[in-house]
Amino acid sequence: MKNNMKSLAKISMALCGFVALSACTHQEQISDGSNADIESRVESLLSKMTLEEKLGQMNQISSFGGSIDEMHDLIAKGEIGSILNEVDAKRINQIQKIAVEESRLGIPILMSRDVIHGFKTIFPIPIGQAATFDTAVVYSGARVAAIEATSTGIRWTFSPMVDIARDPRWGRLAESYGEDPYLTSVMGAATVKGYQTDNLSDPTAMAACAKHFVGYGAAEGGRDYNSTYITERQLRNIYLPSFKASSDAGAATFMTSFNDNDGVPSTGNKFVLKDVLRDEWKFDGFVVTDWASASEMINHGFCADSYDAAVKSVKAGVDMEMVSYTFVKQLPEAIKRGDVSMNDIDNAVRNILRIKFRLGLFDNPYTNESLAEKALYADQHLQMAKETATEAAILLKNNGILPLNDKVKSVAIVGPMANAQHDQMGTWVFDGEKEHTVTPLTAIKELVGNKVNIIYEPGLTYSRDNNKAGIIKAVNAARKADVVLAFVGEESILSGEAHCLANIDLQGAQKELIDALSKVGKPLVTVIISGRPLTIADEVQKSAAVLFNFHPGTMGGPAIADLLWGNAVPSGKLPMTFPKYVGQIPIYYAHNNTGRPVEGNEVLIDDIPLEAGQTSLGCRSFYLDAGWEPLFPFGYGLSYTTFEYSDITLSSNSLTTNETLKVSFKLKNTGSVEGTEVAQLYVRDKVGSVTRPIKELKRFARVTLKPDETKDVEFELPISDLAFWNIDMQYVVEPGDFDLWVAGDSQSGKPLSFSVK
Ligand code: NOJ
Repeated sequence: MKNNMKSLAKISMALCGFVALSACTHQEQISDGSNADIESRVESLLSKMTLEEKLGQMNQISSFGGSIDEMHDLIAKGEIGSILNEVDAKRINQIQKIAVEESRLGIPILMSRDVIHGFKTIFPIPIGQAATFDTAVVYSGARVAAIEATSTGIRWTFSPMVDIARDPRWGRLAESYGEDPYLTSVMGAATVKGYQTDNLSDPTAMAACAKHFVGYGAAEGGRDYNSTYITERQLRNIYLPSFKASSDAGAATFMTSFNDNDGVPSTGNKFVLKDVLRDEWKFDGFVVTDWASASEMINHGFCADSYDAAVKSVKAGVDMEMVSYTFVKQLPEAIKRGDVSMNDIDNAVRNILRIKFRLGLFDNPYTNESLAEKALYADQHLQMAKETATEAAILLKNNGILPLNDKVKSVAIVGPMANAQHDQMGTWVFDGEKEHTVTPLTAIKELVGNKVNIIYEPGLTYSRDNNKAGIIKAVNAARKADVVLAFVGEESILSGEAHCLANIDLQGAQKELIDALSKVGKPLVTVIISGRPLTIADEVQKSAAVLFNFHPGTMGGPAIADLLWGNAVPSGKLPMTFPKYVGQIPIYYAHNNTGRPVEGNEVLIDDIPLEAGQTSLGCRSFYLDAGWEPLFPFGYGLSYTTFEYSDITLSSNSLTTNETLKVSFKLKNTGSVEGTEVAQLYVRDKVGSVTRPIKELKRFARVTLKPDETKDVEFELPISDLAFWNIDMQYVVEPGDFDLWVAGDSQSGKPLSFSVK
């Protein structure tokens, strides 16, 4: 990992040097980059701008590689501030030349793209990256994405998505870091830093966009774009912290979300866009709408027409509009009528220009057209992608068959995801090419093809395939092999934006495939490649081992092959709870307690006596058919070795709010191979002025241990990190008693106690 980071730094420096040498000379004034200097350049430019030019800056269009001639006049008139979906360095330079040389004020255009989990080298989808519990690899993945994308002239990406995702039906969770506010916060911040570095004017830096502000993940029923009903307290305790963390990490931009919360669409929500983002958090970047989310406020029934939509967006605090043109068309009239003030417009333009200056676009608007060749799919990038995919894999079950050893002389490779070059890349792949994807089938042949007989019989051609004719062939292949490797899951189109599911079982005839294979009598290793948690209780029960991979990207195959044969040891942990049934949703670990929590001895449906008395089952909070537990809890994941936690000690049992609690413990590798454990620290605030979650993740650490090795580990937890928005809507630590766990997942460990005075 360290070596990769070093090589990344080297590539980055090499590319920077290249850009500096060829730096453009067209600009009359070179910035010293200080904030004061940038503010004075913003004001000076603003004072020269006409209203049309100002509205131009607030206008983002999508070109998708369309005719430059058609955009020419608008760009030359200064009526476009940002273009979405240009990816070719030559075209980007041509477009930029029109803006810089032909427009009256020469304001460069900000080129943007959805670079979400890699540009050409595709990394695991963000939910998979979250499973690594490794901010360093997530940082490096974002750095690789930025180096590749900026080599073509893209300087702004719409990522990270730091929405809290607690519903596996919601296809968009693929782009999230999962259900937990703390994990999402640190992963989002690492991603922002990876894209932007500490210096946005570095030519390999790409402006980040924290999205979708806010509450999008709480869409009712897990159906995309749907309404949310999040109270202000939930917003502040659960949905806002990850955005605050992105803002604190320096995210240059924010994007409004599609949902209406309690009746107010985010694009028209002054409370979140101004009161919270600007006044409380002092955010000084700019806010862009989501795609046409300004004009969609008409569909919401929140705006009468596009005039109303433009006015409400700007008054709420939006600075730039993505593609729906209500600003350029309607704001001149709104200013005339006094519905929007020049001050509103000037503030929006200031925010946009500030970021363009910080990006160094005025001093260095062009990209070197030969950079891409070096940057795209660089060896170090592929290596980083493989490392991330390796750490992202989660071992859900293992009866000892994994890792495969030399006794395994033949394997049957079956299932539709064994050789799915396109589908293993996952959602949000506009630019990655499937020809570069290495599948498990290819990688396994490469790794062990010289000593293991590989019988490939997919059984089904794609994940939704209902044609069962091939299953018998897969079964016959299984009969001939020592071990069966079944690659099942979801095609990439089944998750991502607008790709929600009401049924999250394995699709098509995959359940039948696993069932048939499990009856062959050979050890069945099920490898799942999916965009979301799935309801796989049956398949887990029928398999000897289950290795779960959220769409792992370009290098998923080699990562999986290494894990199966023990060249790497699984260390991923679940960033989302896996339900047994869809009917358990919402199910997440950090829920509040009911007045009637389970006691653990509840009687489930098959054991209820005939004509049992109405209250004989205990009147507790659980499902008669599903109980109260998930299939797998948040934070869960096995290794090829085992770990033992001991001597968990607190620096004090009684602390004040400005002290720091130190939690130390010993972690021992009690197995026979080296492995990495993600140690997790959870806290429960036992009594609050409002009810508090039964557990909250507060810290985690990846600890690598050789067999028999023990390490002393320490977490530092400032008591101020226990603050929450209380009954008076104040952010405070309430004195009282707390429980604390250190464990390998959110359901394990024994509590220790401390109190805060
Ligand atoms: C809509 C999506 O919600 C958003 O995340 C994305 O960045 C924009 N489209 C731009 O493609």
